[in-house]
Amino acid sequence: MRILSGIQPSGDMHLGNYLGAIKQWVNVQNPEAFYCVVDLHALTLEIAPEVLREQTLDCATTLLACGIDPEISAVFVQSHVAYHAQMSWLLECVASYGELSRMTQFKEKASRKEGYRVGLLTYPVLMAADILLYDAVEVPVGDDQRQHLELARNVAERFNARYGDTLTVPVGVQPAAAARVMDLQEPTRKMSKSISSPLGSILLLDDPSDIEKKIKKAVTDTENEVRYDPENKPGLSNLLEIFSNVTGESPSVIASRYSRYGDLKSDVATAVIEELTPIAKRYRELRPDVAALRSVIADGARRAADVAGPVYQRAANAMGLL
Ligand code: TYM
Repeated sequence: MRILSGIQPSGDMHLGNYLGAIKQWVNVQNPEAFYCVVDLHALTLEIAPEVLREQTLDCATTLLACGIDPEISAVFVQSHVAYHAQMSWLLECVASYGELSRMTQFKEKASRKEGYRVGLLTYPVLMAADILLYDAVEVPVGDDQRQHLELARNVAERFNARYGDTLTVPVGVQPAAAARVMDLQEPTRKMSKSISSPLGSILLLDDPSDIEKKIKKAVTDTENEVRYDPENKPGLSNLLEIFSNVTGESPSVIASRYSRYGDLKSDVATAVIEELTPIAKRYRELRPDVAALRSVIADGARRAADVAGPVYQRAANAMGLL
């Protein structure tokens, strides 16, 4: 099945990225799956060129370390396939200013900085281009990307209504549990690369002792009943969701086995450490071989361009470009 998803190379990858997105990518990978390190998106916020270069390689390595097999799926860097920027322009002439200025992530990020970049506003159009260029049927993402995905669907439908049936309308897919991993210190806020406190997010390359410390110190509540109740017990429910994603059991079933928070935390820590340790090990093996990595992403870009080129042409023709 044709699948596309993307991740920004904008800092250390965390447990939310893994459980919400990358793990799903591994599970659904197939020769029609395209996984993209979206370096153009990272330019919407301040990032030093040398940092972006390194983080793009870090991010591609993370995908491989998590289990994406480049012999099966295509792993590539967004800026290596020029159709993304070209398609984005076409779609900017389909999307409206109003719908972009209503995007929650835009409003949050724009409110943090005066003189924000125009790219921050048009960002979801580039994301729509990423998706629509591949005729993606499914887009596995975390819950925080739902609104952007809805925009991609709306843009595709509007395009088709205006220019004839041209683009595939995709659907977003979320994992059953941990679609929105919350900050361990502030469990009403999502775990995030940019604003989480040091103890709030578990990084994929954290040492086991740090993972254990962060989970043991996770903010819960003052009751002592282990119950899955995201509204009233967000901290505890977050731990149950993480555990659920790792083991495949439902959060309520897991909750029913515990009577003490401390015991639950110990077992969550063990499960997360078991899940992440092989990933960190593999990352450390792969990251030094930059030549091998570059060859993987060059091959990925060729495969991506083979699919994206004809779709771009279809869209350009439909709009009347010669
Ligand atoms: P990004 O780089 O912020 O995150 C990458 C993926 O990780 C998921 N994610 C989470 N899932 C659960 N809990 C969390 N706390 C959490 N934080 C992040 C995100 O939902 C995402 O799936 N705009 C996108 C990148 C993008 C993209 C695309 C995605 C660009 N083009 C095309 C899909 C298709 C982003 O910034 O993700």
